[in-house]
Amino acid sequence: MGKSAQIISGIQQKGGSCKSTLLQCIGAKLGQSGARVLIIDTDQPQFSCIEWADEQDIENVDTLKHTDEDTLLDVIKAVRGDYDVILIDTAGFDSRMASYAIQASDLILIPSGGSKSNVKGAAKTWRHAKISTENNKTPPLLRLVVWGVKKNTNVYAHALETIKDMDIPAINYHVGNLVGFEAMSWNGGLPTGTAGEALNLFMTALRGEHLIEYYNQSKEAAHGKAA
Ligand SMILES: Nc1ncnc2c1ncn2[C@@H]1O[C@H](COP(=O)(O)OP(=O)(O)OP(=O)(O)O)[C@@H](O)[C@H]1O
Ligand SMILES: [Mg+2]
Repeated sequence: MGKSAQIISGIQQKGGSCKSTLLQCIGAKLGQSGARVLIIDTDQPQFSCIEWADEQDIENVDTLKHTDEDTLLDVIKAVRGDYDVILIDTAGFDSRMASYAIQASDLILIPSGGSKSNVKGAAKTWRHAKISTENNKTPPLLRLVVWGVKKNTNVYAHALETIKDMDIPAINYHVGNLVGFEAMSWNGGLPTGTAGEALNLFMTALRGEHLIEYYNQSKEAAHGKAA
């Protein structure tokens, strides 16, 4: 207790780029591993994360609707000590709320599918987040997340080539376009089967890249370094 939450936001100005699904998956997985998780859903009126969470009780995951951009940072400050991870979901367009979320974040995940509009949106979002935080005392880590892509297609090859050219740091596992993730929006909870396996591989990549403080700390604890 006492240690304050890592703030992770999902930002991408292109709509329908799997932001909410990505955050739901990370939140539920971290909750299952014992982390205390809060998802702040700022995307009105759809509130996808709230709807998803209402379908099933998710272990250790709380949700909060928050729509007033001017008080986002105050709310985070007020609850930060109560959680290990706070995930912030934002709308699929450039917004003042997204700018505040960028400022609040330790880690910014920018999901992109395989379409040109997804990749372009991801690049713009990455540039905006990078430029607007480069003078911060501790700028957030920025990572592209290739998610919901039809693998082994020409479109996928185009997207990867473009992403490589832009030199944006990306998570080294690409989650495919799998119906199990769509099912989440109807059923709540986590995907099973092929999608569940893909999610496990994605979480292993996040963990291996040391991006999740909760995992970093538990590793230390396992080695007897932490109190
Ligand atoms: N890996 C995936 N495979 C297939 N479908 C997916 C995957 N991830 C998400 N989806 C589906 O893609 C659609 C868009 O996902 P999601 O709602 O997460 O995007 P979003 O970026 O949050 O959208 P918005 O900008 O509207 O908030 C949803 O129908 C979702 O179920
Ligand atoms: Mg969304």
